[in-house]
Amino acid sequence: MSIIQAEHVMLTEPDHVRVAFDPQYDHGSAFANGVYSSIDTATVPLADLGFMQADAAYDVVSVSKGYFFRLEDHLERFETACSKFLLRNPYTKEETANILTNLVKLAGTKEAYVWWGVTRGYSPDPAGRTNPDAYENRFYAFAIPYLFIANDVQRTRGVEIMVSKKFIRIPPHAVDPTAKNFHWMDLKLALFEAGSAKCDWSVLCNAEGYLAEAPGSNIFVIKDGVLYTPDTGCLEGITRKTTFDLAHEIGLPVRVEPVHVEQLYNADEAFLTSTAGGIMPINGVDGKVLGGVSGPGKIATKLHDLYWTKRWNGWLGAPVDYSVPADIG
Ligand SMILES: Cc1ncc(COP(=O)(O)O)c(C=O)c1O
Repeated sequence: MSIIQAEHVMLTEPDHVRVAFDPQYDHGSAFANGVYSSIDTATVPLADLGFMQADAAYDVVSVSKGYFFRLEDHLERFETACSKFLLRNPYTKEETANILTNLVKLAGTKEAYVWWGVTRGYSPDPAGRTNPDAYENRFYAFAIPYLFIANDVQRTRGVEIMVSKKFIRIPPHAVDPTAKNFHWMDLKLALFEAGSAKCDWSVLCNAEGYLAEAPGSNIFVIKDGVLYTPDTGCLEGITRKTTFDLAHEIGLPVRVEPVHVEQLYNADEAFLTSTAGGIMPINGVDGKVLGGVSGPGKIATKLHDLYWTKRWNGWLGAPVDYSVPADIG
């Protein structure tokens, strides 16, 4: 059973290809320091604590076939992350949505990866260091052509993952993973560990051997017709939430609870989920092919295809009107 070649569709089908755009936005558009520009020329001030101390919250939403997907959910999650980290978004939710829409229009992308974040900004006078209100928080955003973190080839064969042996995920009481943040070193080094082991990806556990999440994605395990995903230690991914909806639609029971790494090794199927890749079936874990059959499992394939088909029919989408130029003042 072959899965939908979503990357190919995005690059070739008329409803998906880029509309006319100013060549300066070829690599994407940006909004930084209150100004729209090409992503090639946007800058971050070096003394911004977002850059210096990973002191920031961010989010990523995607656009496909010209529809933002679950934009309101992403905006809501971002506001919650800001409040958990005592950051203030200088823009309202509506203003943020307008900035993101303008960026997509400038880039002309019907398939877009749209990032935005708020950083702590500059450090105030030392006397104000302990007061979050003394910092002038800063907003940055950009839109670029959509990135598939697992491309058509990888999703068709199923990604090869490893369980990180060297790293555990930062515990939730150290940095709250439900607030999307810049603390990526555990994830990043685990990704390089996977590369050294000739795997596509890794997944990290907590200190007790329960699954947490993978670099940039949530993990799901299927056993005996039941879908399992960790309840804590991970981002409450919007694609994870979407997977709950799709599972409900196909009558697949979902259990959100601690999932031990042994359950992954013994799974019939498993997959990763992310805004930057949708539902990404796993073929093998630490060299063991799940379910004893190579390639994506039947349920993962069904969820994968449903995800893209429904999105392209406008499900939970907010259409971008490319015929109205970006309102950039
Ligand atoms: C650490 C982490 N976990 C999970 C996810 C998946 O979340 P979403 O489905 O909202 O993209 C991401 C997305 O980038 C992430 O960074």
